[in-house]
Amino acid sequence: MWNLKRLAVLTSGGDAPGMNAAIRSVVRTALGQGIETIGVIGGYAGLAAGHYRPLDSWAVSGIIQRGGTMLHSARCPDFHLLETQHQAIRYLEEAGIEALIIIGGNGSQQGTLTLHRLGFPVMGIASTIDNDLAETETTIGVDTALNTAVHYIDQLKDTATSHHRAFIVEVMGRGSGYLAMTIAIATGAEVAVVPEHHIDPETIAQDVQAAYAHGKNHYIVVVAEGAALKARELMDYLVQHSSNVDARLSVLGHVQRGGSPTVRDRVLASEFGAAAVQSLLEGHRGVVIGLSKGNIIEIPLEAAIAPCEKVTPEMIALAGVLSR
Ligand code: ADP
Ligand code: F6P
Ligand code: MG
Repeated sequence: MWNLKRLAVLTSGGDAPGMNAAIRSVVRTALGQGIETIGVIGGYAGLAAGHYRPLDSWAVSGIIQRGGTMLHSARCPDFHLLETQHQAIRYLEEAGIEALIIIGGNGSQQGTLTLHRLGFPVMGIASTIDNDLAETETTIGVDTALNTAVHYIDQLKDTATSHHRAFIVEVMGRGSGYLAMTIAIATGAEVAVVPEHHIDPETIAQDVQAAYAHGKNHYIVVVAEGAALKARELMDYLVQHSSNVDARLSVLGHVQRGGSPTVRDRVLASEFGAAAVQSLLEGHRGVVIGLSKGNIIEIPLEAAIAPCEKVTPEMIALAGVLSR
């Protein structure tokens, strides 16, 4: 076992519900092992500027139910620079910090990899609403973001049905259609437009007509923000080509990133945080804590940040069959 005495934790990239629960778990698991935790304020920007605050048990009390991140987050383009990475390590060493836990998504874990390659002991925790880290089934924040989006689309469906309307709903998920496809299945949407599966506006316009002719009084399209066919473009196409279709565009946006984490995200974050500290103590580093077949796993950083396909052909087929 590594006689670790002081570690640091930071949150980076898009905030995700459950990040606070993960911070709390890191701090309290570490305390249980006699390890002090330092919080880095403001992601990699804070790391490069040496912005720290000590975190005791009291500092993380009352946060498990809160969305966002008490340590704040940032997008920090400067962290691509070797000079900035060295600066960050200098600050860590000066503060007597022996290891760093990075809670974030695929971009953040690329930053983790750079620190790992520079020889600093690091550990990642998979957390992003995008679920775009490879080899882990899910990441902290996904479940809450899905539930939030489903809640809002259920409400839109009430209006859609009452007014015999079509709704084009854009959901988040940078470059990945996982959120959109899962939300489409969970809301019974008529179509999902995702980067992983091409569909042209003409096909959708024809399908709206067929659905209305079949007696449907609503039509919901869930569009991933990263899809080739943009939500606005589809909306304009429907308005121009289907005079009998009353359509509205709704961009869910950042509401999907906020809010109190679900039970699943709270438990996942608590487990991931504890596992990260435990792994460091066992001498492991350069890995990301994730989930596979219900088990907590360690994923080598290079593998975790590799391109991943979370939208399976089975999901696409299921969404198609169930919307008929
Ligand atoms: P997420 O972790 O949610 O995917 P981003 O993609 O915005 O979020 O990445 C978060 C931050 O991680 C970036 O702003 C940057 O500071 C850092 N980062 C991303 N890619 C790299 C990289 N290749 N090298 C170093 N740092 C990186
Ligand atoms: O990575 C999480 C995410 O919410 C993506 O789904 C989205 O594309 C992006 O962040 C939005 O970034 P920002 O909050 O900087 O507008
Ligand atoms: Mg990302």
